[in-house]
Formats: sequence, C-alpha cells, structure tokens
Amino acid sequence: AQLHELAVRAGLQYFGTALREGALNSDAQFAAILRDTREFGQIVPENGQKWESTQPSRGQFTYSQGDITANEAKRNSQFLRCHTLVWHSQLPSWVASGSWTRATLTSVIDTHMANVMGHYKGVCGHWDVVNEAINDDGTWRDSVFYRVFGTDYLPLSFELAKKHDPETKLYYNDYNLEYNQAKTDRAVEIVRIIQAAGAPIDGVGFQGHLIVGSTPSRANLATTLRRFTSLGVDVAYTELDIRHSSLPASSAAQVTQGNDFANVVGSCLDVPRCVGVTVWSFTDKYSWVPSTFNGAGDALIYDSQFRKKAAWTSISSVLAAK
Ligand code: G3I
Repeated sequence: AQLHELAVRAGLQYFGTALREGALNSDAQFAAILRDTREFGQIVPENGQKWESTQPSRGQFTYSQGDITANEAKRNSQFLRCHTLVWHSQLPSWVASGSWTRATLTSVIDTHMANVMGHYKGVCGHWDVVNEAINDDGTWRDSVFYRVFGTDYLPLSFELAKKHDPETKLYYNDYNLEYNQAKTDRAVEIVRIIQAAGAPIDGVGFQGHLIVGSTPSRANLATTLRRFTSLGVDVAYTELDIRHSSLPASSAAQVTQGNDFANVVGSCLDVPRCVGVTVWSFTDKYSWVPSTFNGAGDALIYDSQFRKKAAWTSISSVLAAK
C-alpha cells in the first residue's frame, strides 16, 4: 500500500506533498507520482499562492502559478492546503517597504484576502493565514505587519480571513516549533492572543524542517503537539523534510533519517487532533534545502531518481503498525 492509503487507515485525514510548480509540466516522473492518489491525498503549492505571485503590484492579481496546484487538486480529487497570506517573505516591496498606518495596511490585507481567498473559495480546505511570525529565539519577528500593528495583526488577519472564506480551516504555520523551547512558548501565546481577541483559529502547522539525528523523539514531539491541541486547535505537519547535514549520506545516516521520519509521523498518530502530514516536495530532485543550507540535502522520501528511500519504508511501517 502507499502512504496516503496507509495514513487514512491509521486515522489521519491525509498524507500529502508540496507541488513545485515548475516541475509538473516538465517532469513526467514527478507528475506521475504526484498524481498517484494512493500516495498523496493532499497537495499544497510550494510558491504559487504567495503574495509576490498573486499580487506582485498593487491591485494586479494573477493566479497562473497558484492555479497550477489548485487545478491539479481538482483533477486528482486531492485535498488542497493553501499557502500563505500574511508572511514577511516573498512579500513584494510595495507592501514590505510601504509607509502604512493601521488603517491603510488593514485595507491592503483585506483587499489581498478578498481577492486571493475569494478566487480559491470553496477550494482550499486549509489556509495558512499567518506564517512565521516568530524568531527562533522566541522574540517577535520584525516585519511590516509587526511594526505597524504589534501583535494586533495576528487576530486581525484571522478575523479578515474568516470574513473572506468562512468554510476553510485557518492555520498559524511556523518552523522549529518541534523542539518545545522559547519559540514554541511564543506560538502557544499566539493561539491564546487570537482566542482572547475573540478571533477564529482552527489549527497550527508544524512545518517540520528538521535535521537527521537531531529530530526529537516521538514522545517529545507528541507532548509538544498536545500543548496546542489542549487549546482546542488542530495540528498538522505541513512542510516536513529531514535533511542530512553533509552529503553523501551513509547508509547508517539513511536509517537514522528513516527513524526520524517515523518519529514525526508516529507523533501525529499519537495525537487525535493531528490531522495529517505533508512533505515539502517528495523527491530529492526538487527541494529548497541545498540552495539554503550549503552542503546539506537529500531531505525527502524519494531520491533524485524517484526511487523510494529508507525514509519511505520507515513511514509506511509506522503507519501500517497503527
Ligand atoms: O522560479 C524561479 C526561476 O524562474 C529562477 O530561474 C530561479 C533562480 O533562482 O528562481 C526561481 O524561483 C525560486 C523559487 O523558490 C522556485 O524554485 C526563488 O528564487 C526561491 O527564492 C524560491 O524559494 C522558495 C522559498 O520558500 C522562498 O522563501 C522555496 O522554493 C520554497 O520551498 C520555500 O518554502 C518555504 C515555505 O513557503 C515557508 N516555510 C519555509 C519553506 C522553506 O524555505
């Protein structure tokens, strides 16, 4: 059996992957595996729905990149996660460097959501509303949003998102929450701030950009997930990849990588409100990792020639064992 089939049998809603927009039409092997709905029951655009793609200049909305994944989800009947609305990165300079008041920036966010969420209304099962609002040391990330609103942009963004698509599930999404340190404490505070303001939040996305040999245990990961589900929100692993720090990876390192993947997926199985797991692309041929972490890579579950790795087998085993 394949990963999405096994995940559903084990009680998750989906096993999914990010879609690298440029690969779909240029690489038949990539497309064939992506379209195997026994393997992937959910997809998410790697870049196509981000602000720089959807509203590169003010008032000019373009969906050619975002629609690649949305059309694919429809074609294959795959669940669609949508990514992302309010984020400091891949944010066009007209927003990032504008001089805004609360009123004018509210209007900019409102207009962006009205158009983008409106375009994808009824299509997105989840939306990442706010992405990466916290630094790794737990302090608030400096962004145009934080500079103008302080933390008020958090509830404001979720309220506006609810207005524009009342049906989708609204997520806060971030990385390095898995270690249960200062950054995780702050993410818990984000959920509390949003809830205290009376604004809606449905889930927290654990991106899961992890490192072979430094991934927390299954029990510790589950404990961290429960800090959020006890607040009444769902959790999901939304961008999972586990990179080798140096290449080529030894066969022992491949086994460790497999165990690390199994611990992450296993922790989701252990927490009833952990709804699913998404890998951030599935093949080492297409991964953001090597261009960001010099010398690191091979972070995914198929190798660059589309052969299943030890990590694939470990995930299938932990799902089958549930
Ligand atoms: O599409 C152009 C291509 O035409 C050009 O030739 C090439 C040359 O550099 O660049 C291509 O665009 C790149 C794009 O990825 C598509 O591959 C951008 O330069 C590059 O900046 C962009 O990186 C993306 C990154 O977000 C940007 O912040 C990664 O693909 C994407 O995987 C990554 O995803 C983020 C999540 O959205 C949020 N969480 C962290 C995660 C990893 O950084």
